[in-house]
Amino acid sequence: MEFPKDFIWGTAMSAHQTEGNNTNSDWWKWEVEKDGRRDLPLEASGPACDSYNRYAEDFELCKQLNSNAVRLSIEWARIEPRKGMYDNKALEHYKKVLKTAKEKGLKTFVTFHHFTNPIWLSEMGGWLNFKTPELFSDFAEKSAEYLGEFCDAIITINEPQVYASMSYIVGTWPPNKKSLLMSGIVQINMMRAHNRAYKKIKEVYKKPVGIVKNISWCEYSSYTVFDKLLAKILFFFNSDFFLKPVSKNSDFIGLNYYFTNRVVKLRIRNPDNPVNDLGWWINYDGLYKVLMSLKKYNLPIYITENGLADSHDRQRTDFIKKMLTQVHTALSRGVKIKGYFYWSLLDNYEWHHGFWPRFGLVEIDRTNGLKRMPRKSFYDYAEICKNGIVK
Ligand code: FCB
Repeated sequence: MEFPKDFIWGTAMSAHQTEGNNTNSDWWKWEVEKDGRRDLPLEASGPACDSYNRYAEDFELCKQLNSNAVRLSIEWARIEPRKGMYDNKALEHYKKVLKTAKEKGLKTFVTFHHFTNPIWLSEMGGWLNFKTPELFSDFAEKSAEYLGEFCDAIITINEPQVYASMSYIVGTWPPNKKSLLMSGIVQINMMRAHNRAYKKIKEVYKKPVGIVKNISWCEYSSYTVFDKLLAKILFFFNSDFFLKPVSKNSDFIGLNYYFTNRVVKLRIRNPDNPVNDLGWWINYDGLYKVLMSLKKYNLPIYITENGLADSHDRQRTDFIKKMLTQVHTALSRGVKIKGYFYWSLLDNYEWHHGFWPRFGLVEIDRTNGLKRMPRKSFYDYAEICKNGIVK
């Protein structure tokens, strides 16, 4: 299977999960406060992968991977550590980071919000506060103006609905709320934030600006029509409900696809085989279905995350190839897919799970100075990136 010559081949990461010592963020505060009183297998992120200092080494790995792009995020809490006060040193740091990536021949896809917030924002009520979209847009405009020269694409917000659900319904992420109403408000504020930030960024930055949505496909058993109906409703709320109001202000859609849900007798009951180390059901076909469902937006699509926790690297190569097969089929049926980013380059801090889930093409040895050790799948993906061919 041959992919288009200009196809983007990359890997994805986020600041809090890799940089380390993100001390001005709500996540850091929560990790430290929760220490020793945990009801979750949470460990603090600490130095994470120390990518704040070792970014050049990471981009060198991207180069060895033959990839032509990298997706990463900048940290709001570092750039605006106090409300309205921008830290030029932090902006300079990110300029250096992005410049280094470009020097290694990588296109940069830069996310402005990837789950974490400055502490001052969370003290004002975070995403429940109706002023937050404006505050986020100010930060976004400032960052685009300063860093835009070294960004090939800007992503406003990563997975707004995952954030709204983990932080405000499930409650396992800060601020640990369990309220459908709150989650609704957060989602609306994130739609407003995207739309407003898009316009603000566009005033100072002419390249593409988009949003990243996690979309799970939703299947149903053949028990009753109610299963079918519920599957359709769930998929709608996970997809068009959020995308419609933001699609007019998006130059592309970033899709994060990990799994499919299956409705059986009005409950979600997913098969337990094949699964990844986190128990997420691996379903290749779901990616194709989601891609086809996005065709109607007539926007370029990047798969901005797709990957699996697989500490023994047993399934990763096969997984990538099979997912890419689905991408190829969708491409041949007219979906404008422009690129694929594997999540993730490195094993990193997987939020409330801590460090045990291993998503990396590169293993991080946490007992040996965070040494980077490419896995076999790294070399397999490198072959694909090199030739744009999946065998
Ligand atoms: C996505 C997140 C990313 C990572 C992967 C496994 O939902 O965007 O940060 O945690 O899942």
